Amino acid sequence: MRFFLLFVSLLVASLWVDTAFGKDALYEPVSKHGQLSVNGANLVNQNGEKVQLKGMGLFWSIWMPYFYNKTTVDGIKNYCHSNIVRPMVTVDTVSGGYLTDPDYEDALVDAVIDAAIEDDIYVLIDWQDFEAENHLEASLRFFDRLSKKYGSYPNIIYEPYNEPITLEWSSLVKPYHEAVIKTIRANDPNNVIVVGVPNYSTRLDLAVADPIVNQTNIMYSLHFYAGTQKEYNREIAKNAIDAGLPVFVTEYGTVNADASPPVDEAEAELWYSFMDEYGLSYVNFAISDKDEGAAALIPGTTAENVCQEDYLTESGRLVIKHNKA
Ligand SMILES: *[C@@H]1O[C@H](CO)[C@@H](O)[C@H](O)[C@H]1NC(C)=O
Ligand SMILES: *[C@@H]1O[C@H](CO)[C@@H](O)[C@H](O)[C@H]1NC(C)=O
Ligand SMILES: *[C@@H]1O[C@H](CO)[C@@H](O)[C@H](O)[C@H]1NC(C)=O
Repeated sequence: MRFFLLFVSLLVASLWVDTAFGKDALYEPVSKHGQLSVNGANLVNQNGEKVQLKGMGLFWSIWMPYFYNKTTVDGIKNYCHSNIVRPMVTVDTVSGGYLTDPDYEDALVDAVIDAAIEDDIYVLIDWQDFEAENHLEASLRFFDRLSKKYGSYPNIIYEPYNEPITLEWSSLVKPYHEAVIKTIRANDPNNVIVVGVPNYSTRLDLAVADPIVNQTNIMYSLHFYAGTQKEYNREIAKNAIDAGLPVFVTEYGTVNADASPPVDEAEAELWYSFMDEYGLSYVNFAISDKDEGAAALIPGTTAENVCQEDYLTESGRLVIKHNKA
């Protein structure tokens, strides 16, 4: 009996090594995994092994520029146990954005990219737009500059369209992505590009029906907020992955989709189990000190205290627990 149990536990341990992704992201940096690529539905490292990235998204650049620097990225890596950070390049808001002040946005995003490279973590560059097909010229200009400057670094991952509101995948969103992909690929043949899908990056099924073809290293973005998107949305994601679609959770929250509390811990745990089972990478929204449920930090937190124990919210603590395990 005892030997049988030993045998079973060894068997479980060996399966664990093969299939589980429960690793502390702090110890899975770029220097370990190098150039990423996409193989079938999986994100793989320089040796072709499956890899899972886990980390933190910044809040809108226009409203929290004080988190767009190396002090914050250091905290995200070391105390939020992350191997990825996601700057949110504001495009078009009442307060401004890339359309009105591109140089300001360029400077903010570059500071985060430089810090991520120095800190040996990946950086997912989010074009924070909801109607990007209406801003194509600006987007091409942005991604052309970026891929020229940083395309040779394995740290870089592009996210050209945060959350399409439209449901017109084939006629609007997909052609937008194809134009951006073409621009990026002229400068950067390798780094992964994660494309947004309709209805706020939830409708992966529309991309399954009409995927982007003849391109390499393309993934599809899934967003969820645990208090709003539940089993119905996991079903869409599961069907997409089973159909061979490479999926990356570029933004998720533990709360409601409008960022309001409470933390839906039970539903969030179901999502974490799902993502870990399929080896999906995930990035939390957000490194923010706004007084709202989705914020990982308490109001008034400064760059120096990002992700430090005493400055975490309920959501922040739950997120870090999973970044660590
Ligand atoms: C980052 O910004 C904060 C203020 O928001 C500042 O205290 C800190 O020195 C800055 N860090 C760097 C590396 O510039
Ligand atoms: C879009 O997402 C919302 C929130 O998850 C959902 O209620 C709605 O039914 C979705 N609509 C479509 C057309 O997918
Ligand atoms: C994709 O590549 C194949 C083979 O080279 C070609 O026949 C097809 O026309 C291409 N499709 C598109 C949409 O470019």
